[in-house]
Amino acid sequence: MKKKLPLSFYNPVTLTGASLAALSFGLILFLMLLQALSPEPKPYMGIIAFVLLPAFLLVGLGIAAVGIYKEHRKSITGKRIERKFPLLDLNEPKHRRAFILFAAITILLLLFSAFGSYQAYEYTDSDEFCGTICHSVMNPEYTAYKNSPHARVGCVNCHIGSGAEWYVRSKFSGAYQVYSVLFNKYSRPIPTPISNLRPAQETCEQCHWPKNFFSEKKVVFNSYLSDSVNTKSTLTMLLKIGGGNSELGTSAGIHWHMNIANKVLYYPLDESRQTIPWVKIISNETGKEEIYKIKGFDASKLNPDSIRTMDCIDCHNRPTHIYRDPYSLVDNLMAVGRIDNKLPYIRSIAVESMESQYTRKDIALDSIKIKIADFYSSNYPYLAEKEKDKIDTAIRQIQNVYSLNYFPEMRVNWKYFPNNIGHLYSPGCFRCHDGQHYSDSGKVISKDCNICHTILAQQIDDEPLKLSLNGVNYTHPVDIGNSWKEENCDNCHSGK
Ligand code: HEC
Ligand code: HEC
Ligand code: HEC
Ligand code: HEC
Ligand code: HEC
Ligand code: HEC
Repeated sequence: MKKKLPLSFYNPVTLTGASLAALSFGLILFLMLLQALSPEPKPYMGIIAFVLLPAFLLVGLGIAAVGIYKEHRKSITGKRIERKFPLLDLNEPKHRRAFILFAAITILLLLFSAFGSYQAYEYTDSDEFCGTICHSVMNPEYTAYKNSPHARVGCVNCHIGSGAEWYVRSKFSGAYQVYSVLFNKYSRPIPTPISNLRPAQETCEQCHWPKNFFSEKKVVFNSYLSDSVNTKSTLTMLLKIGGGNSELGTSAGIHWHMNIANKVLYYPLDESRQTIPWVKIISNETGKEEIYKIKGFDASKLNPDSIRTMDCIDCHNRPTHIYRDPYSLVDNLMAVGRIDNKLPYIRSIAVESMESQYTRKDIALDSIKIKIADFYSSNYPYLAEKEKDKIDTAIRQIQNVYSLNYFPEMRVNWKYFPNNIGHLYSPGCFRCHDGQHYSDSGKVISKDCNICHTILAQQIDDEPLKLSLNGVNYTHPVDIGNSWKEENCDNCHSGK
């Protein structure tokens, strides 16, 4: 057989390296083709095709080079043994059989490795993999996700952006995560905000289009007091979710922050970005800047590296891993009648039973049952008999929402993961809109109760309904004087 390449190529080491490189290259081409044909972006496919396989390709080429170098050295020192390939003659039946066998095995092997790596890829991309591989660790995130508006959106769609930078980032952080789970080094709960796989504006904007934010959205809140009759109050409001685009409707509104025409920068004092003493807005059109800060904040202490540009996640930090507070959980169950609001003190005892400190979920669920049943049998023995069914139903409902929102083993609950939308149970919008952030010219970031929502109607207990399309003045459900205007709501409502 005639050798078409220099003799130093023909040695086992070089041939092994070259086959490894060729195989990797073939797989890369195959995955790239798949990616091009697939309708959605497939981030993990990228990791394999652009990070993992090229590494093998390089290693293969390296091995081949080492083989050539060694062979070359040998030829210089004159120690080279002439190595001939076995002669292949297809007219010889033995040779023919061997050739067919060899070719068939090679083709099969190639097919299987392509299929195998595709399967492996599909699996690493699945929500099951993301959410359950580290089961106990990610269980809270996975459970909350399964019950959220984004339950049908894959983890990777939010957590891994497109582009090579993201592939590398997620690969590194994934490797670290595997290490920390194996060696029990992870923290409970998983800290938030996450730094390496933090979703970004670009990921949300794959599906939501800021230009399309306009108009208003009607929302109704039912809440109950912790008194014996569970006094009910209702509030109907229009949330002004506009702000994107003036062609489609009013351009003022909540998504004003995301308007392409301006940029909002802020400086948080803590890791979880709950305390914000300094805010700057820059108009992209005029370049005009305005700085708002709380009184007494010394801007010279500001560390420029910690300044953040506001994006979707600064408000929507819980779009899918939502751990709800016990108050609105119970309020909602009572409003739809799953918990009977005629049971005395049910709102109060339900919230209290969920908020106790538990170490394990099974203990928590048992304790909730015992606490509520005991409360009625010791305070309302007659009711405990007569309304046993209603009390049992209430217990089951509370246990159910507890399971979905509290994860004592991982120390996960609403207090550790404040939701930045709203302002009742955590600072949320009032991180900036607390009426305490002033500009040098004396302007203030507004706390006006009607800039973000128009309160259309409010009713407390059986008082007459207050109703106006221009917005009614808010009345706090219990009389606390002017405190609700002067303080942030979460001062009293964060459960601390
Ligand atoms: C709709 C987008 C979206 C989807 C889908 C999504 N996440 Fe998240 N995830 C987020 C956001 C936003 C955060 C909070 C990030 C921050 O504040 O930095 C987050 C945070 C996390 C955290 C850190 C702990 C925490 O709760 O803040 C983990 C772990 C996590 N996600 C895992 C997952 C897993 C597993 C899946 C799929 C089962 C998933 N995510 C699906 C948007 C998403
Ligand atoms: C792959 C597409 C996709 C991505 C990526 C995505 N979303 Fe969504 N989102 C949806 C869909 C679909 C719905 C509507 C769900 C429904 O109404 O049941 C939705 C609903 C929402 C809602 C309304 C929720 C409610 O309570 O009605 C908000 C807010 C939201 N998304 C924010 C975000 C943010 C913030 C991100 C980025 C972290 C994001 N989304 C990423 C598809 C997506
Ligand atoms: C200043 C805070 C803030 C920022 C920044 C923000 N949002 Fe919102 N967004 C809100 C609030 C408040 C609501 C209404 C809350 C609700 O629906 O419960 C909302 C509602 C939405 C909805 C639901 C709209 C509907 O019709 O129900 C979507 C989708 C959404 N936001 C996506 C985004 C995306 C994508 C971004 C980034 C480009 C973004 N938001 C940036 C505060 C914000
Ligand atoms: C990081 C600080 C910050 C946070 C957090 C924040 N805002 Fe703002 N917001 C601003 C600034 C600054 C302005 C502009 C004030 C001005 O120039 O009058 C503004 C203006 C607004 C406006 C008026 C827009 C217009 O059309 O004039 C609305 C509505 C609004 N914000 C809603 C919200 C809501 C709802 C939230 C919570 C989900 C929120 N904001 C959270 C900084 C913030
Ligand atoms: C910067 C914007 C903003 C301002 C200013 C604001 N709110 Fe809100 N408020 C919101 C948003 C956003 C929600 C909706 C939260 C949600 O969807 O759960 C909300 C929800 C509420 C709720 C319902 C809370 C619940 O869960 O039961 C009440 C009550 C309320 N606001 C009262 C007020 C009052 C009173 C003021 C004036 C002192 C005020 N708001 C000022 C943004 C604002
Ligand atoms: C000084 C403390 C304080 C402040 C500040 C405060 N509240 Fe309250 N709020 C209370 C108390 C006390 C109750 C009665 C709680 C109960 O009976 O469960 C209550 C009850 C409520 C309820 C009905 C019960 C519930 O838990 O949902 C709503 C709604 C409410 N407050 C909204 C607000 C809003 C909105 C703000 C800010 C604009 C605010 N509160 C500020 C003390 C406060």
